[in-house]
Amino acid sequence: MKRFAQKHVFITGGAMSIGFEIARQFASEGALVSLYDRDRKALDEAVEKLRTSGYAVNGFCGDVADQTQVDAAVASAEGAAPIDILVNNAGICLVTPFLNISAEEWHRTIGVNLTGAFYVAQSVCRRMAKRKRGVVLNMSSKNGLDGEFGHAHYNASKAGLVLLTKTIAIELAHLGIRSNAVCPGYVRTAINLAVDSDAFVAEFAERYIPLNRVGTVGEIAPVFLFLASDEASFITGQTFVVDGGQLAGQKPWPELLTQIKL
Ligand SMILES: NC(=O)c1ccc[n+]([C@@H]2O[C@H](COP(=O)([O-])OP(=O)(O)OC[C@H]3O[C@@H](n4cnc5c(N)ncnc54)[C@H](O)[C@@H]3O)[C@@H](O)[C@H]2O)c1
Repeated sequence: MKRFAQKHVFITGGAMSIGFEIARQFASEGALVSLYDRDRKALDEAVEKLRTSGYAVNGFCGDVADQTQVDAAVASAEGAAPIDILVNNAGICLVTPFLNISAEEWHRTIGVNLTGAFYVAQSVCRRMAKRKRGVVLNMSSKNGLDGEFGHAHYNASKAGLVLLTKTIAIELAHLGIRSNAVCPGYVRTAINLAVDSDAFVAEFAERYIPLNRVGTVGEIAPVFLFLASDEASFITGQTFVVDGGQLAGQKPWPELLTQIKL
């Protein structure tokens, strides 16, 4: 039997990039997948693509920052089957130096990345709590654990998700609900494609990432599947970094590496 047969996974921001790959992998392992995304065109294409592969998928269009839309979508998704796994993946990343962030940009970033995740988690967990089972996975970031130029609002939102995750874990463990956060490092997707050139990304990887490259969506998704699976039944309230070693410590200068005797 497939690992997620009979399971229903609700994924925000699932229409493209990392969220879509998470959806594709859950679906390929037998799950019914509900995608929630504000981009109607991308959502329709994603649903079509997954259905063409023979997977069970439903699409719901809406903004995670709108509580009414979130509640309506969660209620509709539950009409098909109870949600077993929530992946709070939707997020935006606007890059602006701290002194220049407008109040509007601050509120939008916190509104989508943190408040949006709260709306979805609360709506889904109220239902999971009655059933006494469920898994919540929040998409934080390496940037939720350390600072980066131009990312004060993004970093604050992602750091908030780490503590939201831990608090859900301790409050809802007795109701059979586990909650964990995943913190990816740099992955080349639509979120950064327009902002960073290929040359910048290559230089960035060379300078900061011990594995010397950025990650792929295919390297992030399996962590979500593992954390949602029964193999992770004793793991809750944790934060998993998937960043090619970037947060492990300062990358040694190339001259230092020549001292290693093989
Ligand atoms: N790409 C990276 O390097 C990276 C690193 C760490 C964390 N993350 C996080 O992973 C998540 C996905 O990132 P990505 O790179 O796939 O981004 P992306 O921009 O490529 O895709 C994001 C998806 O979320 C949807 N979305 C955005 N705002 C929404 C909203 N308000 N309501 C509903 N849907 C919304 C978009 O339409 C899109 O389908 C984000 O939370 C991001 O912060 C990304």
